[in-house]
Formats: sequence, structure tokens, C-alpha cells
Amino acid sequence: MSPTASCPSCCCAAKERRLGTGFAFRLCLLSVTLLLCLQLGLRRSWDAAAVAEHKPQLPPSSRRAGKVNEVSSRRQVTYIRSGRRRGAAEPTCCLQGAPRRRKTIRWHIDLQPWASPTPSLSNEALRLLQYISTAQISCDHMNVKDLPGNPDILKRPWSICLDDRFNLVHQIKSKQCRLYSLGLGGDDNQFEISMANSGCEVHRFDPSIKSAHIQEGQRLWYHRLSIDWRDPNPVIAAHKLHAHTKKLGTILNDFGHHKIDILKADMESAEWKILENLILEDIVGQIGQLVFEIHVHWPGFEVSGNDSTVVRYWYSLLKELELRDFRLFHTYKDSSKPQLFLKREAFNASSCYTLSWVNTRWK
Ligand SMILES: *[C@@H]1O[C@H](CO)[C@@H](O)[C@H](O)[C@H]1NC(C)=O
Ligand SMILES: *[C@@H]1O[C@H](CO)[C@@H](O)[C@H](O)[C@H]1NC(C)=O
Repeated sequence: MSPTASCPSCCCAAKERRLGTGFAFRLCLLSVTLLLCLQLGLRRSWDAAAVAEHKPQLPPSSRRAGKVNEVSSRRQVTYIRSGRRRGAAEPTCCLQGAPRRRKTIRWHIDLQPWASPTPSLSNEALRLLQYISTAQISCDHMNVKDLPGNPDILKRPWSICLDDRFNLVHQIKSKQCRLYSLGLGGDDNQFEISMANSGCEVHRFDPSIKSAHIQEGQRLWYHRLSIDWRDPNPVIAAHKLHAHTKKLGTILNDFGHHKIDILKADMESAEWKILENLILEDIVGQIGQLVFEIHVHWPGFEVSGNDSTVVRYWYSLLKELELRDFRLFHTYKDSSKPQLFLKREAFNASSCYTLSWVNTRWK
């Protein structure tokens, strides 16, 4: 597997010959522990190549062409100031360095009981599919085109809830709204542009853009960052391989943002681990509405176990959101994507669903 895997035993054996056995044994245990920790830290980060490998086949027309040209013609600006490295004269938008809050970090989500006394894929799948096809709360106004300045009909069902009883519509009217949009490039930006036109401050995180921060219009920002579910390993970051990868909590801290009114994510199967990270670090409490495209054609990055275990894990993640008073108000099954569930044509499932939740605790 890894080149370091065989090392602990060989260096321990050598030390044991030189030193007394009791002391050598403790020293050995210590070094094995250290090496194991190092190895855990060095786990390979997922990257764009891996994403491409697992993406279901899409018709070429659904991917937008000419994005690069468009992107490079945008105005290039500096978004945050690093303080130490840049001169004070560079244009900036937002202050960096909100005080870092200490939050209790959990290490595991709580797994729900199996769907049936004897674990089976079909019972797990039917429970999950039932769950993601059922709205838990009604929402009467979901259409972005109802907002002022948006005559267009959106191609994709990125539904947000604009009912009076939820805060979002008021935040938009008073131009106090903030949208974070996570993507991997190549998606259409219609939703982001509409939200910016409606008065939201929009931050689009997309590792495929040409410069670190680009401003397009008064309220629309593009950042060359990809969202990860753990901090990049300092060794790898030092080699600049994954320097553009950050956890959402880290970005919030870096930008000095305390809340996100809408978090939209289309992360090609990285959404499961990202969602887990947001739950474990208790970031979801800072989010008003979630609009996620979820993928079920394969387990997703770093999700392991047999098929029933994977489906139970997905379901448990969604139940964690429910426990935090998030309620599904819209679900959409994408019939244009391959109809696959864990590589099978089964359960009348699609490989891709778009789910929208509102945080009913959001003020
Ligand atoms: C999958 O793994 C779980 C836990 O390891 C086990 O309890 C279950 O029986 C397995 N399911 C199948 C269908 O093999
Ligand atoms: C399969 O899903 C479609 C919607 O995608 C639905 O119209 C149809 O009734 C479903 N078929 C069965 C057998 O459940």
C-alpha cells in the first residue's frame, strides 16, 4: 500500500537489538503511534481527476463551453488581505480574521438503526429514497424568478424558500443576504447571477477559475477555492498541490463571515463528506438554507463499507440535519442523469437528486 507501511516494524526491530527490551518496547510503541498518525494525516486528498473518473456520463451539451474565455475577461481583484504578505495598497473587499470560535468537534455522526432487523440493501435503499422524495414542510414561494430583477426561467431546480415565515425573503429585501455556492467548474451560474441581482452577496467557490478572486458585478465574487472536509495536510500544502482546498469553516473564519443564508452545493459526490464535516464541526447552525445536489450512483469520496452500510450512512447524515431542525421543503429527482443507485439500475432511482432544506431555528 503505502511506502511507509512496512517501516514501523523494521525500525522497531533495530532499536530492540540496541536497547533493553522494556524500554525498547515502549519506544517502539511510541514510534508506531507517531508513524500511524503521520500516515493518517497523509491520506490522499480527492482531486479533480478523481471527480472526473466517477462522474456519470453526461451529454456534452449539458456542460457549458467557453467558460475559460469568459472567466479570463472578468475583472481581477484581491478579495481578502492576508495582512502579512500583501501591500496595504491592494484593493480589498472584506476583512480577514474574525475571532476563531472554539466549537466542540465530534468525530462521528450518529448512525441510525438499520432499516430492518437483518441489514439488506433494498430495505436501506427504500428507506433513503422514501426520505429524499418527501418534503417535510411546505413552502409556497420557491421560485427565484419571483424576486425583483429576475425575469428568466431557471434551467435548474435550485429551490430556496421565500415564504414570509422564514427569514430569507426579508434578508434579501434588506440586502443582508449571503449565498455561498460550491461547485467544481463547468456549471451554469444562472442561479448565482439571479441571486446577486436580487440583492444577495454571492460567493462562488470554483477551483477552475484563473485567478484567486474575481469580482463580477456589484455582489458576485468568484474564488479559486475548492471545499474540503478536512484541513489540507501541511506537507502537501507546502508543495502547493492542494493549497486551493479549504474547509468551509476555515473559509468563514478567513472571510470574517458568521453566517450563510443559503449554501448551495454541487460537488459531484464530495457532498456527503462535506455535509458530514459541516455537521461534526457544527457549521450547519450558521446556515439558513441548504440546497444540495446529492449523488447516489457510487458511495462518494472516502465513503466505505458494503452497500447497505453506505446507504445507512447517507440516511444517517440526513437524519442529523433533521435533528438540528432542518426540514426538507423541496426534493427533485433528476431524470436526465443516469438512473443508477450504487452502480445498479434499481429501485427506480436516479443517480442525482436536488434537495432543499430550511433551518427552522434560523433567525
Ligand atoms: C454489511 O456490513 C454490515 C456491518 O459491517 C453488516 O452488519 C451487514 O450484514 C453487511 N450487509 C450485507 C448485506 O452484507
Ligand atoms: C419511477 O419514478 C418516476 C419518476 O421519476 C415515477 O413517475 C414512476 O411512477 C416511478 N415508477 C415506479 C414503479 O415507482
